[in-house]
Amino acid sequence: MNLTELNRIATAVVTPGKGILAADESSGTIKKRFDAIGVESTEGNRRDYREMLFRSKEAMSQYISGVILYDETIWQDAKDGTPLIKLIEQSGAVPGIKVDEGTQALPMCPGELVTVGLDKLAERLKKYYERGARFAKWRAVIDIGSGIPSMTAISVNAHVLARYAALCQAAQIVPIVEPEVLMDGDHDIDRCYDVTSRVLNKTFQELRVQRVALEGMVLKPNMAISGKKCAKQAPVEEVAEKTVRLLKACVPAAVPGIAFLSGGQSDEEATAHLNAMHKLGPLPWGLTFSYGRALQAAPQKAWSGKAENVAAGQSAFSHRARMNGLASKGEWQSSLEKKAA
Ligand code: 13P
Repeated sequence: MNLTELNRIATAVVTPGKGILAADESSGTIKKRFDAIGVESTEGNRRDYREMLFRSKEAMSQYISGVILYDETIWQDAKDGTPLIKLIEQSGAVPGIKVDEGTQALPMCPGELVTVGLDKLAERLKKYYERGARFAKWRAVIDIGSGIPSMTAISVNAHVLARYAALCQAAQIVPIVEPEVLMDGDHDIDRCYDVTSRVLNKTFQELRVQRVALEGMVLKPNMAISGKKCAKQAPVEEVAEKTVRLLKACVPAAVPGIAFLSGGQSDEEATAHLNAMHKLGPLPWGLTFSYGRALQAAPQKAWSGKAENVAAGQSAFSHRARMNGLASKGEWQSSLEKKAA
């Protein structure tokens, strides 16, 4: 393992002013997104949609540091025969790949999940590296509810995340470690803080046990945020202050970067929260975005599956990418959104 090179890639994807486009929706998830805009989820439509994003010159060259791909996409060619992964490389962004294979029910733990996909992972990583992937992603899911999460679910998922991360580093691929605490419940921000703190502490304990080099990884966490169904929604400043406090307490400074998931926040909330965190002063790690929905909802709507809307889709994507790029330096203002609208 060449740790200097892993560290170089991990640092590159959290460069201030840039962040990651999570375009790694599984076939089931992208179908849900396409259903919402009335587009049939065929292989061709998925290709056309992602080609539109990767050919967005302004976004890709100025605000996007890396792209997370789904297995289908990493092997797909653009309409003119260029591999999609080449479009990403040509823009200057680093290609990455989602390598988990989704979740299954965790035995003896009703309502809880474990992420699967470790079988043959070493072989798959080798193929992805040869194709050009330089980082990977694995998402663990922790739900908050009555009596959950159990310590069992937290431990099992942390163990599996560390197994994945160690295999990645052995294959010269930077692991993006994503323990997602869901924001779907009616819990308040303090409960999210407590659960996320337990999850992060256990995850870093397992990473150490399994000898993962913290200098060669990126963390992809949720923010400390109120559950969507909570009557009391914490304001932007509180989310920023509690998230930074939580991360400082749990994430060693040896980790080069942290890139948030958006998790169901609105586009503008996800941007405002990241921006507010950068207003709190210097941080020990790079801190940026790795958004799926909060970067793609607007371009999906603008495109709606029509070739004549490609320019509109690209301009919607470039706008969101630019807003988040500014937020990653604490330079975003809500008036910039209004001007664009
Ligand atoms: P969201 O930003 O839509 O949560 O997606 C990010 C991601 O990669 C989740 O695994």
